[in-house]
Amino acid sequence: MFYQHGGKVRKLSLILMSTLCVGALMSTASAENLGVGKKELEKMKSSFAGPEPVPYPKDNPYSEAKAELGKSLFFDPRLSTSGTQSCATCHNPSFYWQDGMPKGVGHEHKTLARRTTSTQNLAWDALFFWDGRGDSLESQATEAIALPKVMNMTMEKAEEVLNGIKGYAPLFKNAFPEDDGKINRINLGKAIATYERTLISKETPFDKWVKGDEAAISETAKLGFVLFNKKANCVACHSGWTFSDSSFHDIGLASTDIGRGKFEKTLQHAFKTTGLRNIVERAPYMHDGSLKSLAEVVEHYNSGFTKRESLSDKIKPLKLTDKEKGALVAFLGTLSSKDDPVTLPILPR
Ligand code: HEC
Ligand code: HEC
Repeated sequence: MFYQHGGKVRKLSLILMSTLCVGALMSTASAENLGVGKKELEKMKSSFAGPEPVPYPKDNPYSEAKAELGKSLFFDPRLSTSGTQSCATCHNPSFYWQDGMPKGVGHEHKTLARRTTSTQNLAWDALFFWDGRGDSLESQATEAIALPKVMNMTMEKAEEVLNGIKGYAPLFKNAFPEDDGKINRINLGKAIATYERTLISKETPFDKWVKGDEAAISETAKLGFVLFNKKANCVACHSGWTFSDSSFHDIGLASTDIGRGKFEKTLQHAFKTTGLRNIVERAPYMHDGSLKSLAEVVEHYNSGFTKRESLSDKIKPLKLTDKEKGALVAFLGTLSSKDDPVTLPILPR
């Protein structure tokens, strides 16, 4: 009996030891299986590590009071003429700060020309909107309020509305003590921009892998990451922690919108590179909402793009196999984070 029992233990430990060995072999062989050297893989991974500390501008430093005021303003529909649309109507936290629709729906329920972008992870960008016409989050916020098709307010009227709501006075006093708590368009833009700079996505399975947790993502997703950096060369534009070079490119979508071309002749049909964090959650895709799934996006880059003079020279037929396409989609799926639930503010009266 005793002998038999010992045998079982020995057999078990043998099995255990061999599994451990295979496991160790697999993880050292992991880089080679993916068709890339270990050092090169580590370098690729570290180029997406982050995020850098939020660069608050000198003339609009962070304060909790300012971010809290900004949150109220972001959720306040009284900043629209109809009294029904706030920033959060379109930049809805439930839809990862977008609206889940192919194109935005503005004043009087009219469909806008482009898809609503996410207001998450924008703190590091220099230019805003699909065509980069906004040069700061501060000015961008007041533009959204004033655009006839969006919230259809004038800034004079917005200042009048806020000055007429008693509960806003102490909030502006706390947020802008150096300016006597003035309720004007400048402080309104500053408060909303400060709130927007706090909207940062949380750690993803991909980030855990970058930090060294081999089990955080699947081998298929790891292959997708290598393809993203090498054969598919997505990294040529989707680089850094946010997966965006914050620049403008024509990726060959069929849309006739000239985008950045309105401001720079050589950039016809070019649009701002979108960041890719939480991307699975943010369908449909592109400035025109024309691609419904990540599989469609990969198909577009593989061979579905429109050739024209302005097409970026980084967009070329990729000749991906079905397995490689699946791996790219699997990788993109590792960029989602479980963000903290957003509590709605009780708006000042
Ligand atoms: C009716 C829907 C709607 C409302 C309301 C709205 N937006 Fe937007 N927002 C959009 C759309 C659509 C775009 C993309 C437009 C474009 O680029 O031409 C956009 C773009 C943006 C961007 C640019 C993001 C980037 O990637 O560069 C920011 C920032 C932004 N909105 C903030 C706000 C703020 C702040 C408010 C409230 C003051 C607001 N929006 C109200 C629909 C809306
Ligand atoms: C030449 C630069 C460039 C390359 C290379 C590139 N992208 Fe993009 N990507 C962009 C731009 C610009 C946009 C926004 C385009 C638009 O809407 O007009 C975009 C949009 C996207 C979107 C949609 C984002 C959203 O919020 O709608 C996804 C997903 C995406 N790219 C993934 C990839 C993948 C995967 C690859 C590699 C196969 C890749 N990209 C290669 C520049 C590039």
